[in-house]
Amino acid sequence: MEEKNEQVIKYRQVMGNYPTGVTVVTALNDSEQPIGLTVNSFASVSLDPLLILWSIDKNVGTYEEFLKTDRFAVNILASHQGDLCTLFATRGEDRFAKCEWEQSALNLPVLSNTLAVLQCKTYRQVDAGDHMILIGEVVDIQNADKEPLLYHQRKFGEIPKSFYN
Ligand SMILES: Cc1cc2nc3c(=O)[nH]c(=O)nc-3n(C[C@H](O)[C@H](O)[C@H](O)COP(=O)(O)O)c2cc1C
Repeated sequence: MEEKNEQVIKYRQVMGNYPTGVTVVTALNDSEQPIGLTVNSFASVSLDPLLILWSIDKNVGTYEEFLKTDRFAVNILASHQGDLCTLFATRGEDRFAKCEWEQSALNLPVLSNTLAVLQCKTYRQVDAGDHMILIGEVVDIQNADKEPLLYHQRKFGEIPKSFYN
């Protein structure tokens, strides 16, 4: 048992030291209310068809609601949107009352001023331990000329200037 805990600690150290971007995945639930959470498990999967994935913890409050939706939006945060990363990861916050967003033509809640938005149709749901992997087919792409928000060791930041030299 102890060995397993040690493995979990090491695993968390390794994954925490792996830098990522930050997204907020949003959808509408059965009652047409917007739902959303901060997600960094987002990854590209396929070009033909255009597929992406993210995984949701089965303990997330809106887990069942996300499983029922047939579409979702991946809002990729820009470097100035660290507050949205925190807002959409904080329990008990009225998340959509505290940020700017609009309903898209595909009837998805889309956050304003992000780096990019990928609107997706649910393609597959794959059960994976304490998470469910949601694979989406990208049906609409919005892209802005902005820098991404980065996440590393529980802190967020922007791409260092040295990267651009
Ligand atoms: C940077 C960051 C990345 C996260 N990535 C994920 C993720 O990929 N999947 C997930 O289920 N939760 C992820 N979370 C945690 C969820 O955002 C958080 O558990 C969720 O908002 C809680 O929602 P609830 O209060 O409705 O349960 C992440 C949190 C942070 C700060």
